[in-house]
Order: sequence, then C-alpha cells, then structure tokens
Amino acid sequence: MTEKHLEDKILNLLDDIEDDGKKNHYFRLISTLLEKGYFPGLAEVPVVKSSISHIDGERGLLTYRGYPVEELAESSSFEAVTFLTLNGDLPLEAEESDIRKKLLADIYLPEDIAKTIAQFNRNLHPMNMLSAAILLLEAYDKGSNNVDNHRENYNRSLCLIAKFPTIVGTFLTGNPDFNKGRQFNSFAEYILFCFNPELSGNPEFVKMFEESLILHVDHTMNNSTFSARAVGSSKAGIYALISSAVNSLSGPLHGGANERVVNTLEHIGSADKVPEHLENSLDHHQKIMGVGHRIYKTYDPRAKYFKDRILPKIFADPEKVKEENLALWNLFETAVTMEKYVQDKLGKKKLYPNVDFWSGIFYKAAGVPTEFFTTIFAIARVVGWTAHWIEQQDSAGKIYRPFQLYVGFDTRHVLK
Ligand code: COA
Repeated sequence: MTEKHLEDKILNLLDDIEDDGKKNHYFRLISTLLEKGYFPGLAEVPVVKSSISHIDGERGLLTYRGYPVEELAESSSFEAVTFLTLNGDLPLEAEESDIRKKLLADIYLPEDIAKTIAQFNRNLHPMNMLSAAILLLEAYDKGSNNVDNHRENYNRSLCLIAKFPTIVGTFLTGNPDFNKGRQFNSFAEYILFCFNPELSGNPEFVKMFEESLILHVDHTMNNSTFSARAVGSSKAGIYALISSAVNSLSGPLHGGANERVVNTLEHIGSADKVPEHLENSLDHHQKIMGVGHRIYKTYDPRAKYFKDRILPKIFADPEKVKEENLALWNLFETAVTMEKYVQDKLGKKKLYPNVDFWSGIFYKAAGVPTEFFTTIFAIARVVGWTAHWIEQQDSAGKIYRPFQLYVGFDTRHVLK
C-alpha cells in the first residue's frame, strides 16, 4: 500500500471525528501502529483519564486543575497549590491555613530514621538516598498496605509531602536535629531552610523559591508519574510507589537533566566556548541536556517563567553578581549564549530549552549543591504523584499490564 493510500484510508476511518486535535492525535497513533507495530516510548498512547493537569504542547500552556501555572506561581502559595492539586479547587483562607499547619506539623521524622539518614554513606546520590529513606517510613505506618480509603490516602499523602524536605535536609546537613526548635511561616520557607537556612530568612527569595516549586508540581503523564501510577495500579502502598517515582525522576532524560545542565555549563566554562561545544555535541549525536520535550513543540512555559520572571530578579544588577559570585555570573552568561545557539540550531526541529535548562541556575543561586538539584524537583513533584495516586485509587482502574512484540526464539527444547 502506498503512503498516500494509507493516509487516505486512516483519514476515512476518522472522518466522523469533529475535533481536529483528537483527529490528529488518532491519526498519529494509528499511523505509528501500522508503520511500526508498536508505540516506542508509549508516545501519544493515552493510559488514563485524569483531571489533574493539562498541557497544550502547541500553545505552550500548562494548567493545574484548569489554572495556568504562571497565574498560580505568581499569586498562590505552595500550600494552596498543594490543596488545589490534591482536592481539585483552590482552598478558602481557613483551608489554606489548615493545610499549612498540617504540613508544618508533619515535617518531623521518627528519631531512628532521622539518625539513619544522617549516617547514610556520603557517596550516595541524594536521589537514591531519598528513594531509600522513603521506604524506611513504612516501618511506622503498618496500615499503609490498605489503599482503598480516600481520606487515609489523602492524609498519608500530606504526611509524606511534609517529610520530603526533612529527609533531604537531614542528609545534606548530616544532622538529625537540623530543624528542631525552629518556627516557619510557610512550607516554602521551610523547604528553602532545608537547603539554605540563611536565605530562608529573605522573604523575596522565599517568594521566588516558592514560584519555582509551584512550576514543578505536576506535568501530566510524565515518566515518574507514570511510574507512580504503574506501581500504584498493583495496589502497592504509597512508600513503594513514591520511591519508584523518585528513581524515575533521577534519570538524566527526566528530572536529572537539571544537574547535567549545570555540569555541562561549568564544563564549557565561558560563553565564547559555547559554539564549539554545541557543534561538537551535535556532530557526535549527543543530546543537549535541558533541551527538547516529548509534548512541547514550543517554549516550555515553566522554562519561560524561570527565564523571564525569576532569573531577571537574580541577575538584575550584573556588577553586583559579578562581584559577589563571578562563577554564578559566568554560568548565567554561558546559558544565555547556549540558549541562543540552541534556538538557531535546533529551533527548526521544534526543540527548545525546557524547565531543567534554567532551573539549575536558580538553584545554584540558592546555594544548593548541584547533586541536590533534582531533590528540589522531587519535593514539589511529590504533590503531583500523590494526587495521581489518590485519583487512581478512587477510580476502578486496572493493573498496568501493556503488551510486547516478542522478537526472540520460537519455542526450542533443552537437549537431554
Ligand atoms: N539535543 C539534541 N537533539 C535532540 C534533543 C536534545 N536534547 N532532544 C531531542 N533531540 C532530537 C533527537 O535527536 C531526534 O532527532 P531525529 O529525529 O533527527 O533523530 C528528535 O529530536 C526526537 O528526539 P527523541 O529523543 O525521539 O524525543 P523524545 O520525545 O523521545 O524525548 C526528551 C524527549 C526530553 C527525552 C529529549 O528531548 C531529551 O533527551 N532531552 C534532553 C534531556 C532533558 O532535558 N530532559 C528533561 C525533559 S523536561
């Protein structure tokens, strides 16, 4: 069958569908199936019905429960966005105050677990440490294998969200008591405290940090959310599925990209060396970290927010930044040049810088050690993971069990 003939046949089949977006989507799905016989990377395959977040990749739009992420970042607190993501609507004032109190009351870890985390081998990557530490918490929650009660799932989710920054802060400081005897005005302030106590006393920086967290809360059926849902579909408990999601996020093609971006920029060293580095990487078919996205065919709105609204505040006074932190300024200048070259070279392929391209520079400005960057992403994204888990357990879903195309031996027999 010729390509044109096949195309016409598929279009014929889809003739009754009025919505153009849907029609194009089904067309791509059917073409892939007919051409390849399977869906590499599950691209375009719908696996759930969800009402938590939505991306319009052509327009560069991301919404949580219908609200554009930029509006939430600008005007809402992290607690309000947590409430929204888990419950479906923005909280009333009293509800926001309640969830803030609940999160701040639940930050503490059981003493033995805090001590264990503080003594973990320092060579552990913080994301592996986080994944291991989450599993330890199950020892204190023996009812967690019952996943059928909405209220219990919700309370467990809040409790785990509250403990994420503490786990990371305990490992970072090596001190199980690092957060004892302190009061915090907001959960974002506490999260920043876990990475940089001094900066957490600066309300302007806390606001920027809070915005950066809100940008990462949820992102439809990405790799880590899919992992959480896949494990959740087997009715495993919250600690098992969130630990899996953390592992997925750690990969360089997912959340781990923010760490790689900063390492690459530091390796390049200065803006004038960007063209040579980029040419070299592309000649060797190496992916540029922090560039490209499965869904966005235009600039990632989260990357845009970092670039246009957060970083200009950090770099508003270049002379001051250069004087106080020349390495940070160099990093920023190298990134700005890199972005320009990436757009020139890869823009025609609809590849643009993604959120991880810019977020690392902000975390660097926050004084966070590079290998801890992805833990900040996880501290925000656990809200999305738990919302997806609650949504999944509330509906009568099926265990995830896709199909493979077997390409191995036909049945053969062991010689006797
Ligand atoms: N640098 C250079 N080329 C890239 C690229 C990048 N970062 N990302 C994608 N491409 C190119 C591929 O080489 C491929 O080109 P081809 O069609 O000529 O072979 C094309 O774009 C499609 O890439 P593919 O890897 O199939 O896309 P995907 O949808 O499977 O992958 C990502 C999406 C995000 C995994 C991918 O863009 C990537 O690896 N980016 C770098 C890691 C990163 O920043 N991850 C964080 C995402 S928020």
